[in-house]
Amino acid sequence: MTSTLLRGRTLSFVRWPQTMDDHSAWRYEEDGGLLIRDGRIVATGAYADVEKQADDGTRKIDHRPHLLLPGFIDTHVHVPQMQIIASYGAELLDWLNTYTFPEETKFANAQHGRRIARLFLDEMVRHGTTTVVAYCSVHKASAEAFFAESHARDMLNIAGKVMMDRNAPEGVLDTPQSGYDDTKALIAEWHGKGRQLYAITPRFAITSSPEQMEMARALRREHPDLHMQTHLSENHAEIVFTQQLYPWSRDYTDVYEHYGLLGKKSLFGHCIHLSEREADALSGSGSVAVFCPTSNLFLGSGLFDYQRFRQRDKPLRIATATDVGGGTNYSMLRTMDEGYKVIALNGEKLNPFQSFWQITRGNAEALSVADKIGTLEEGTDADIVVLDASATPAMRLRMETAQTLAQELFLLQTLGDDRAVREVYVAGRAAKSDMAN
Ligand code: GUN
Ligand code: ZN
Repeated sequence: MTSTLLRGRTLSFVRWPQTMDDHSAWRYEEDGGLLIRDGRIVATGAYADVEKQADDGTRKIDHRPHLLLPGFIDTHVHVPQMQIIASYGAELLDWLNTYTFPEETKFANAQHGRRIARLFLDEMVRHGTTTVVAYCSVHKASAEAFFAESHARDMLNIAGKVMMDRNAPEGVLDTPQSGYDDTKALIAEWHGKGRQLYAITPRFAITSSPEQMEMARALRREHPDLHMQTHLSENHAEIVFTQQLYPWSRDYTDVYEHYGLLGKKSLFGHCIHLSEREADALSGSGSVAVFCPTSNLFLGSGLFDYQRFRQRDKPLRIATATDVGGGTNYSMLRTMDEGYKVIALNGEKLNPFQSFWQITRGNAEALSVADKIGTLEEGTDADIVVLDASATPAMRLRMETAQTLAQELFLLQTLGDDRAVREVYVAGRAAKSDMAN
């Protein structure tokens, strides 16, 4: 049994940091150690203490002066959109019709799906993200390709084939029955295989008929432990169209509520234009609202009111995500930089500890997987990111005047990207340095 001992400045969170002085909300070791065996963290703390538990064969890797954090978690991405990221000039529904749906038709070709799945996970690792919650295309083969690639890398990823049976081109449509059957087969093959988890994935109310929504309800009933992911209240035209398609509904959220899709493992992308009733319904059911700042800005969708949702009487559970390819960057650092600006436009601030809590433990809690990832705690999986706050000349220069950990984290978020990610460990194995380039 081989073991690895990492040395560096370890930082992880135990709970939401109320303020920048809320020191008991995080654990920071200036000279920290992480002992890894069989893909898990078996000891953590001051390096001198952790080293005592190493054995003669332990491989020691010294990452000082860099930071060691839990690998980043991205809670909403679209794997088939890698080649339409950065497409000009459209709001959501036009963007879907002009770029997204035609692009996703290519995933009928399994070989294309395998190529993109490989390049997608390469890109995630390059940017320090060790877990994603992914939408594959409508084609069963695209989800198979994604899970096969993820499993080969021993990554903990959550994914599903999208269910969509109307309001899109023929090449990206299933039927209520085939969407159900394909989902069942994928769950049977992949859910719980190694670290793979399946998410039931009706794309959104516009592209699912009432019959398909019934099928999504049935799948949830039959597999209550699975995640469910969809989109909600992203764009005004989308909201109006949804109301026309489901005229009996009180509001957009009510459509999903009606089909039994709210709950603690339900992830709703965007949630920008929610009424108080909708926010209450999400909160009461423990559903998660996913904040996708770069996408919301790029598509001109609106400003997610993070602090209002957190601070209301009935707070929302919130996760953050890139939403690639509506989102414009694969990096959770870039994402939180844009998130900071969106929150600032709403007259609030998100401090750097809160920000790094969010993309590690916060997202793990939102996915109900904090017992496995997001914390660096003993017994959890060794998914770790190594961050260098002096990665570029501009960052190095700025670091000359940074005096505190908070300042270092904030400049990492504001100026950092994949270049600040020195190494990434997936289940204890160095994954970034292992890539071809
Ligand atoms: N709503 C339905 N599908 C999508 C998608 O692929 N991206 C975004 N941003 N919103 C959606
Ligand atoms: Zn999305």
